[in-house]
Amino acid sequence: MREEYLDPEYIPDILPHREGEIGEIFELLKPIVSGRRSTNLFVHGSAGIGKTAVARFVTRSFGEEGTRGIYVNCWYQRTEVAVLTEALRQLSYPVPRKGRSVDELVEEFVRNIEGEKIVFVLDEVDALTDDGVLYVLSRSPTPIGIMMIANDPYAMRHLDQRTRSSLSPMSIEFGRYSVEELYSILKERARLAFREHSDMAIKIAARLSYKHGSDVRYGLNLLLRAGRLAGKTGDSLSIEHVKAVDVKEDPKKEMRQGDLEGEHVVVLNALKQLNGSAPSSEVFTKYKEIEGKGAERTFRKYVKELIELQVIGAEDIPGRGKRRLLKVR
Ligand SMILES: Nc1ncnc2c1ncn2[C@@H]1O[C@H](COP(=O)(O)OP(=O)(O)OP(=O)(O)O)[C@@H](O)[C@H]1O
Ligand SMILES: [Mg+2]
Repeated sequence: MREEYLDPEYIPDILPHREGEIGEIFELLKPIVSGRRSTNLFVHGSAGIGKTAVARFVTRSFGEEGTRGIYVNCWYQRTEVAVLTEALRQLSYPVPRKGRSVDELVEEFVRNIEGEKIVFVLDEVDALTDDGVLYVLSRSPTPIGIMMIANDPYAMRHLDQRTRSSLSPMSIEFGRYSVEELYSILKERARLAFREHSDMAIKIAARLSYKHGSDVRYGLNLLLRAGRLAGKTGDSLSIEHVKAVDVKEDPKKEMRQGDLEGEHVVVLNALKQLNGSAPSSEVFTKYKEIEGKGAERTFRKYVKELIELQVIGAEDIPGRGKRRLLKVR
């Protein structure tokens, strides 16, 4: 397993399902590239839905166009002094953190960015202990594209009137991902991280992430822990591993019969048409009759997954050969 691809800090080269937001942010910040003032932005939305990833992606892309991207997480840099010191460090003008007054730092910052094109991200902006730095940035003689991020949609209301008016940010709400979107995001990370994995395991991880507010971080963590478990036995990542991971909810409840799709449903219908109980070979015959698409091998894979999901049960039929009786649970 290549764990780095499941690390929440990893920024993929593309961020599927955020193309719209990325495009909008680019458009609004673009004037900075030609030295003009841009609209300031306030991005908000719940945890783990790609706000930071998009911000980092945006600053990285602007960096390639000769604009300097500064990214500060205000959870770690809470004061005006801390934010400006960190910004100067990223601009390669390091100053000692101690022994400078706020005024001196502001002066130093303003002087050093003269003639530069700056996009400045303040992540977790509501963790700032004072608004001073926001005021300074919004009033800077050199135009700065300011992008603020918070979970709380009302974070801007807590700013003082003067700062709020100088910033006049445009709000961009990041919505929740759907189960399908989560699936495709996690699937891509799984493809990078695992040599082999079961598709159904990713579907379950997506569903669980959805239950947790569409938090991608939750799904990544789940896959990481399941992957470590799989690694112990040298297996490929399976539903069993995801299920075995200590999650608060019981994953088997997450995937109910009504949530199944595609060929799994056809297999289940075949079994139901046989009064809900029949030897596997008969279920396969029925499955083909009702136009199941899979060959026998694929059929067996679907059955195995349905068993793992506890949608159907299986018991060995005594006698010669390996015959199994399948039952709807
Ligand atoms: N559209 C996406 N495509 C690929 N990866 C994504 C996407 N959205 C989120 N992720 C990944 O999910 C993880 C969490 O995303 P991120 O850190 O951006 O969340 P956030 O919205 O900033 O959450 P918080 O409010 O808790 O800070 C990261 O690893 C990120 O790369
Ligand atoms: Mg974040």
